[in-house]
Amino acid sequence: MKVYYNKSELSKYLDSLRENGNSIGFVPTMGALHNGHLSLVNKALSENDFLVVSIFVNPTQFDNQEDLVKYPRTLEADVNLLKTVNENAIIVYAPTVDDIYGDKIESKSFKFDGLEHQMEGAFRAGHFDGVGTIVKRLFEIVEPKSAYFGEKDFQQLQIIRKLVELYNLPVNIIGCPIHRAKDGLAMSSRNTRLTSAHRNAAPFIYKTLVEAKNKFETRSAQNVTEWVEIQFKTQELLELEYIIIASIDTLKTVKRKSLKKKYRAFIAVYAGDIRLIDNIALN
Ligand code: PAJ
Repeated sequence: MKVYYNKSELSKYLDSLRENGNSIGFVPTMGALHNGHLSLVNKALSENDFLVVSIFVNPTQFDNQEDLVKYPRTLEADVNLLKTVNENAIIVYAPTVDDIYGDKIESKSFKFDGLEHQMEGAFRAGHFDGVGTIVKRLFEIVEPKSAYFGEKDFQQLQIIRKLVELYNLPVNIIGCPIHRAKDGLAMSSRNTRLTSAHRNAAPFIYKTLVEAKNKFETRSAQNVTEWVEIQFKTQELLELEYIIIASIDTLKTVKRKSLKKKYRAFIAVYAGDIRLIDNIALN
């Protein structure tokens, strides 16, 4: 498997593939790969001749230094896992911070039509400036035909769609469904950092989202979010940060339901020090 640490060598190789008529897909990640990432990888492989998987823990999108320092870095295991999927068609790009940022580790400031002020944007200062900066940079380096993002980070997916629209970037954005453990917990690189007690408590998050979805059929958004808040008061090991029901276009909290709009419930929960997010389509 080809592993590149340097953008100009990667670009040269990708140009040669394109010259031979190959299509190139792209799955950006921060590594510590799990089956959620692999679901994107498999979808991308089914639609492209070659696939670039980037593995880069992007410093500018972390609002919490401890989270950045403790973020799992498992490059060797990640490469070995990708080899078992498809050694020939997958190309790994694992740049150094210097290769991406030079000596200026900072993000650009973006406006995403207000999407950046909701939820994760409100609770993690500067997060989407960091995401916008790295994803735009990676698109310029990889120049993929299509790029694959998980609905696990639904707000990120919508923001990337907006980024592509605003900057007219020549890449198709493909959203992929949330991959879950058998007990319902959405897979995440941060799950490996949960204590076993917190891991056992965490499936409550998805279970509550499913019940919220059922209640949303007959109740108002406000009534459902209040119900969720009460449920979390019974959980000693889980601390609810937010539960928000929003339309998928604006990501703004819904005041009055409209049959024409699509809604999702979005949740962020602390399990000890570990922050988990999840969401579910409501209609
Ligand atoms: P990371 O958290 O590693 O996720 C990489 C991609 O995998 C994202 O598109 C994410 O939504 C998707 N993903 C993660 N867990 C998933 C799951 N359980 N089911 C489906 N998809 C899942 O998201 C990032 O990295 C970064 O912000 C990045 C886009 C790479 C920019 O640094």
